[in-house]
Amino acid sequence: MRILVTGGTGFVGSHAALALRAAGHEVRLLVRNPAKLERVMAQHGAQAKEAFPDIVSGDVTDAAAVKQALSNCDGVVHSAAFVSTHKKDADNVISTNVGGTRNVIGQGCELGLKHLVHISSLAALFAPGLSSLTGEEPPTQSKSAYGQSKAAAEHFVRDLQSKGKPVSIIYPGSIIGPHDPGLSEPMNALRIFSSRMGVVTSTGTQFIDVRDIGSACVAILEKLDRPERILLGGHYYPWKELISTLYELTGRRLPYAPIPGPLLRLMGILGDAFITLTGVNIPITAEGTQYATRWVRSDDSKFETVLGLRFRHHRETLADSLHSLYAAGHIKRKHLGKLA
Ligand SMILES: NC(=O)c1ccc[n+]([C@@H]2O[C@H](COP(=O)([O-])OP(=O)(O)OC[C@H]3O[C@@H](n4cnc5c(N)ncnc54)[C@H](OP(=O)(O)O)[C@@H]3O)[C@@H](O)[C@H]2O)c1
Repeated sequence: MRILVTGGTGFVGSHAALALRAAGHEVRLLVRNPAKLERVMAQHGAQAKEAFPDIVSGDVTDAAAVKQALSNCDGVVHSAAFVSTHKKDADNVISTNVGGTRNVIGQGCELGLKHLVHISSLAALFAPGLSSLTGEEPPTQSKSAYGQSKAAAEHFVRDLQSKGKPVSIIYPGSIIGPHDPGLSEPMNALRIFSSRMGVVTSTGTQFIDVRDIGSACVAILEKLDRPERILLGGHYYPWKELISTLYELTGRRLPYAPIPGPLLRLMGILGDAFITLTGVNIPITAEGTQYATRWVRSDDSKFETVLGLRFRHHRETLADSLHSLYAAGHIKRKHLGKLA
């Protein structure tokens, strides 16, 4: 099949593109910056020009460029998004994530593509007080532009699903793994936990390996004959288990601060007030502390039952992520401990 991948210079898109190519598909990439593609693919040990000769230069907000990129394709993996929680980026986040999804997934359906994969987020489903995440939750009502953009894109794509269009949705949790071209929030959290200090609070977190998302994209395109919602939260770590697993892997006792959930949420509310007053972005927000202290497991069973795949072991994912943080200069060799 010929598959268009958007976001090929990003964390998920680069892995998805390489997984599709390894599975024998022709991959076309829509990228804004071919020079960045070369750098990102070099991290993977691939030569961009050789691995991906079929490049369309363009922006997902440009409907004509997207249409050109979609032409003669059998399928698409839409992974391009502007992932930012900075207030100054709000307009751009909405236009990229909502407008981009309309252009890529909407036009893909109009052109009659047979297989479409939209990368959503568990954050588009999460609401405090749920007991689990299943994919049947209504799109969330978020305060942040990023959350709103993912929810609006979710409404749009679900509407297409309800009309019988062949669009499947993947809902990743916090993504980690090798070769993150930037420093995404989950990888940054892992950097802080492994090199500075962790926090132990109520509930826990989920980490999904970026390579498992790449495999899921391939399996959806190759195997599914009906649209699906595939949740990929990944391994659930109660916060203390995350600290103890990092200790087992590295042999390093990591300092951590025990902070009760309600106190952390109060700090999040104060964090929001600080951001509003100063315009300075800090990682402690009301929404972020809701995720951190009230998270619930996602039902990831379709990865095995529908796609026929097996998750990578979560320790392998953590170990490879730490190696990758070190290779990118985000942590020091001493932080790898026994893994070095
Ligand atoms: N990372 C996570 O933990 C996580 C968790 C849940 C869901 N997700 C979702 O997974 C998807 C991929 O995220 P990621 O982690 O791979 O993000 P990423 O590493 O930041 O990559 C984003 C990609 O989107 C491209 N892009 C952004 N704006 C664009 C535009 N206007 N036109 C064309 N391309 C554009 C970027 O291109 P440039 O290189 O040119 O900037 C880059 O290739 C997103 O939908 C995100 O919401 C991510």
